[in-house]
Parts: sequence; structure tokens; C-alpha cells
Amino acid sequence: MNSLLLHCRPGFEGEACAELSEQATRLDVPGYARAKPDSAYAEFVCNDAADAERLMHGTRFRELIFPRQWARGAFVQLPETDRISVLLEQLAGYPVCSELWLEVTDTNDGKELSTFCRKFEGPLRKGAAQGWSPRGQERRAAPAADVQERARGVCRRGRDWQQRALADGHTALKFPRQAPSRSTLKLEEAWHHFIPRDQWDARLAPGMTAVDLGAAPGGWTWQLVNRHMRVSAVDNGPMNAELMDSGLVDHFRADGFAFRPRKPVDWMVCDIVEKPARNAALLETWIGEGLCREAVVNLKLPMKQRYAEVRRLLERIRDGLAERGVRASIGCKQLYHDREEVTCHLRRL
Ligand SMILES: C[S@@+](CC[C@H](N)C(=O)[O-])C[C@H]1O[C@@H](n2cnc3c(N)ncnc32)[C@H](O)[C@@H]1O
Repeated sequence: MNSLLLHCRPGFEGEACAELSEQATRLDVPGYARAKPDSAYAEFVCNDAADAERLMHGTRFRELIFPRQWARGAFVQLPETDRISVLLEQLAGYPVCSELWLEVTDTNDGKELSTFCRKFEGPLRKGAAQGWSPRGQERRAAPAADVQERARGVCRRGRDWQQRALADGHTALKFPRQAPSRSTLKLEEAWHHFIPRDQWDARLAPGMTAVDLGAAPGGWTWQLVNRHMRVSAVDNGPMNAELMDSGLVDHFRADGFAFRPRKPVDWMVCDIVEKPARNAALLETWIGEGLCREAVVNLKLPMKQRYAEVRRLLERIRDGLAERGVRASIGCKQLYHDREEVTCHLRRL
């Protein structure tokens, strides 16, 4: 248990390693990160279990950009038969958990394994429940918060709806057939990730106003309209005709970088494929000048130094807003539907 294991998009293992190494340096936790290219997982190896725990507890999972999931643990060689006994032996050293599930890496090998995992999960859970019950009783003597915290530390902290989707080997988000493009799922996923579900009614409310920069054919606009918002869709390309029939969309054939709304809007979203620095500057301008309250903007990643570049741009946005005296929350994640890109979310406070 002296390692942190991370899942990430295949090809982004280096970024996940860089991020965790940065956290370890910040927390003064000795150790090193390692990963095989395109394996979709990475490992941060600490000296001992206490250090691994310190690293996990001192890092806010939601603030990590590239890791999709994490857990404390170790690699175990499994035999072809009676894997359960071998796993249970390993699990004996783990704190009591409230839930157990299996996940596969986001690779072809992982996908092949997922059918097996679906069948294997039930028996393993059953075996674990039997194996754990005596120790569970033992632990009841410990303060409840302590036990919960331990359980969460090991199993739960990185998990949310998206990870469950990963575990299932497909995305939990269903492509809405009426939406004009598959890009629509990126904005929906961004909302799931950045906005707690119980705040959707207030922050994605009917009657709100939004600007969609680089809107055509209208996948993101469709999501906004689906929440009954009034949308200014900015793009020289054509918008989907049915979406225009909703009566909620005004189409502006204009340059998204020059467009400004007549009045401040609730939301600005931008999916223009451009240099990330340009999109980041746009984001800072809209939030900084109070043109919108919240924004979701896609940043395409450069070929090299991807993590360093994203960090630099986020710093620049943070500094720019601080200079203007504007307080805002800044989130950034490589979402499940993001490819060579990350999604930024800003909200004026
Ligand atoms: C990836 S597509 C957007 C897809 C859209 N989000 C959807 O869900 O259907 C990028 C769009 O940005 C538009 N675009 C590129 N440069 C632009 C600019 N300077 N101003 C406005 N739109 C721009 C392109 O015409 C293209 O339609």
C-alpha cells in the first residue's frame, strides 16, 4: 500500500505523473512516479504506506487535471484460477470499506477485461464481505469518522459519476439523438463535473442567457436550449435548423474573439479550436470584465509540455483576474469526452 495508482486517458500518463510529482514536492513526500506509455495508468511510489496516505490526504483529487481515478494500493500477480483467494489475502491489509468495485483501464486490453470483471465483481464482493465482517466489528470501536475517512481515503475520494461510467466500460452519458453533434456530451460532462447536481436548478436555470462561441452545428447550444436558456450562437458556419426552430437561439455570423454581448450574460461557452493561449485569454476577458458569470471553455493541448502549458495558462488567468481584483473559482479537467484537450470552468464569486 505504499503506492498511489492513477487512471488517466491513454497517452497522458506523463501528465498524470507530473501532476502527482508536483503534489508530492509540495507536501514534501519523497517518492517517484512511473508509467508505461499508453497504458492509461500511472503509479506514484512512496517510501511507505504512511507517506502514500499523506500524499493522498494532502491532495484534492478534484483539483487534479489528468488523473481520472486514484487509489492507494499495489500491483498483484493473479493466477488463472482462484484469483479471489489471492485478492482477499491482499485486501486483508486494507482498512474496512463500504463498497468494492472493479475498474479497467481505458485501453483495448482494459475493454477486453471488462466482461470478465463484470462477472467477477459479484463473487469477489461476496468473498470480501465475509472476509471483512469480523474486522468490521473490531473496528466499530474506533470513532465512526475515522473509519469513514479511512474508507474514503482508500476507495472513494476520486470516484464520481464519471468513474462509475469508466468502470462500466462506457460512458454514463447517453448521446441525445436530437443533438446536432457528439460534442454535446463535452458540455454536459463539464456540468456534471464542475457543478454539484443540487445546484443545477439555480445555476443552469430556465430563462438564463448564454453565449456559445464557435457554436456550429450546435451541440453545445442544444444543451443550453435543453435547459431552456436563451442563446446567442456565434459562428460563421451554419447552425442546425431544428435548433433554430426552438426560437431560443440567435445566430451571429461573427468572429467569436471579437463578439461581445450587449448585456452581461449568465453563461459563456467556447469550443473554438484555437491556440490554447488565445482561448485562455478570452476566458479571462469574459470573466474579468463581467461579461458572464460562469464559463466553460475548451483548451486544445499543445504537442509537447502539455501539463506545463496548462499550468502556465491557468496561472496566467489567475494572475490576470487578481490584477483586476476579480475573485473567481477556476477548475480544469481532462474530461472523459476530451481528447487532446482539457476543459476549463470559471465562476465569478
Ligand atoms: C469544434 S467546432 C464546435 C462544435 C460545437 N461546439 C458543437 O457542439 O456542435 C468549432 C467551431 O468553431 C468555429 N470557429 C472557428 N473559429 C472561429 C471564430 N474565430 N469565431 C467563431 N467561430 C469559430 C468553427 O466554424 C466550428 O464550427
